[in-house]
Amino acid sequence: MAQTVVLYSVKGGVGKTASAVNLAALSAAAGRRTLVWDLDPQSAASWYLQTEAGAEQPVKKLLKPKGLAAVVRPTIHNNLWVLPALPGQQAIEHHLADKKDAGFRLAKLIDPLAEQFDEIWIDAPPGLSLLADNVLRAAHMVLVPMVPTHLSERTWFQLKNHLRERKIHPEHLKSFLTLVDRRRTMHRDFADRHRHDMPELLEAQVPYASVIEQMGDRQQPSVYTEPRHPANRAYQSLWNEIDALFA
Ligand SMILES: Nc1ncnc2c1ncn2[C@@H]1O[C@H](COP(=O)(O)OP(=O)(O)OP(=O)(O)O)[C@@H](O)[C@H]1O
Ligand SMILES: [Mg+2]
Repeated sequence: MAQTVVLYSVKGGVGKTASAVNLAALSAAAGRRTLVWDLDPQSAASWYLQTEAGAEQPVKKLLKPKGLAAVVRPTIHNNLWVLPALPGQQAIEHHLADKKDAGFRLAKLIDPLAEQFDEIWIDAPPGLSLLADNVLRAAHMVLVPMVPTHLSERTWFQLKNHLRERKIHPEHLKSFLTLVDRRRTMHRDFADRHRHDMPELLEAQVPYASVIEQMGDRQQPSVYTEPRHPANRAYQSLWNEIDALFA
């Protein structure tokens, strides 16, 4: 059964998509059959992997067993597939909202996919929602990218409260710093200040780097185009830490 990791944050623009695509690309490079599930209607992950959804699918069909497996697309990269953002996707949330066991249904949808892949990396849209609760419940790991600022601290503790209130207990809840600017004191000192109250913070830190911004132009994971760049090496270190947790 596949390991599922969701890149999640209440905040927008913190590097969820860039990280989901790069970490999944590293899994594929390590020989794992890897799926990127683009759950965000902005469809940036699908874009980075040059994959468009096919014709619109009726939501009812998608929610059938194997419904999602039928819309998985290969990418130009070895071992890497995408479940692209689907035109009718927002309707999934409305559909789930009608169901008594709404918070658990997505986990059931993942099962047929989990048999086909070794790893599933989910790029979730920002914010708290029923869809988010579903994903957070379904994934083995919830991985939260964090920009080292005071507001992120607040959001992190709010998320932990939310998970507690909803009785969502992922096997692994982890966070990592990204868009780090070492010239800024707040950024430099963040990890030291939180050594004790954020035991979930992984060691690897992804610096602010234009190679990552340029993924939009190249439509390729930056870990493939410039593997030696410090930002991409940081993604490799982060991937190693995550992989060790599953070992
Ligand atoms: N380490 C980085 N260095 C520089 N730019 C980055 C880095 N990580 C992400 N970016 C850029 O920052 C922007 C936001 O990143 P990304 O789209 O990955 O965030 P997101 O959390 O998925 O956003 P959203 O909440 O809108 O889905 C993008 O333009 C991306 O290219
Ligand atoms: Mg995104």
